[in-house]
Amino acid sequence: MSVLEIEALSVDAVDGTQAVPLLRGVDLTLSPGETLGLAGESGSGKTLTGLAIMGLLPQPAVRMTQGTLRFQGQSLTTLSPKARQQLRGSAMAMIFQEPMTALNPVQRVGSQLAELYQIHRPNLSSSTIRQELIQGLANVGVSEPERRLTSYPHELSGGLRQRMMIAMALALKPRLLICDEPTTALDVTIQAQVLDLIRTLSREIGTAVLFITHDLGVLAELADRVAVMYAGRIVEEQSVWDIFASPKHPYTQGLLRSIPRLDQSAQTRLAIIPGQVPQPTEPLSGCRFHPRCDQATALCRHTQPRMIDGAACHLFGEQTC
Ligand SMILES: Nc1ncnc2c1ncn2[C@@H]1O[C@H](COP(=O)(O)OP(=O)(O)OP(=O)(O)O)[C@@H](O)[C@H]1O
Ligand SMILES: [Mg+2]
Repeated sequence: MSVLEIEALSVDAVDGTQAVPLLRGVDLTLSPGETLGLAGESGSGKTLTGLAIMGLLPQPAVRMTQGTLRFQGQSLTTLSPKARQQLRGSAMAMIFQEPMTALNPVQRVGSQLAELYQIHRPNLSSSTIRQELIQGLANVGVSEPERRLTSYPHELSGGLRQRMMIAMALALKPRLLICDEPTTALDVTIQAQVLDLIRTLSREIGTAVLFITHDLGVLAELADRVAVMYAGRIVEEQSVWDIFASPKHPYTQGLLRSIPRLDQSAQTRLAIIPGQVPQPTEPLSGCRFHPRCDQATALCRHTQPRMIDGAACHLFGEQTC
């Protein structure tokens, strides 16, 4: 059975009577032990997808307007807010892009972490919880973990806060782990350590991982499959091998060309896909990538392509419109 099935997910920003589409028709499936990479430039809708799965969209301004979400076969959209909260932290966890969102600023990190255990593993003794916490922090490269447990979030550096949050997300060995750019604030050694931990969790206990990043390069080693998102839609989804060996969508091809290489300067990299992701408010017919696509035809300008054989692009598959 799949851990997660998302079908036709749409999310809107609602402002008075105006609804702005932020996500449209997102389909994703994750099996136990599988890592799915979700890639795309800034503003493409990656974080919103993660928040929608967790039930943490900033309502009422941003809300799910369509679609179904199933977690281990159970519909999430019909669950009570309390039941959904119960799942978070134990069965599904998210490592946020901005660590302060996950931590309570007025509570010592040790007691926040301990609370997670007390709620979800009420049978553990406090000394076992303490041992697990210390081990969990050591696993993510936190030095002097005992001392850190008594700190408030603001007393920690950005990198340490990030590691605290990662330890918190991994603590209860969730069935589904959503990682939103989890290592961007960390130095390379710790990055590698954290990626290793995620991999081990996935391999040993079958955690399904949704790994969000703007950088396809990170996914080469980590992901089994990769979904590429552009302007609120999935434009391509392939095995990691096929994404790198034979990307179909011109947007994926552009992203691959922008993977940092030692022989390129930052300027050359940024120049590779000209233009910017359109604002969600921008009216745009056809494929939303067409203004930036050097292969766009008249069809691309007026008809939205459907996903066929892993790519939503008129250049691939039989598009009959
Ligand atoms: N609370 C909100 N109200 C209105 N629009 C929002 C809100 N949150 C996000 N958006 C818009 O939704 C779109 C997708 O945002 P999202 O944060 O999911 O992008 P992302 O792919 O995670 O980008 P990044 O790589 O920068 O983190 C963006 O255009 C963003 O401006
Ligand atoms: Mg984001």
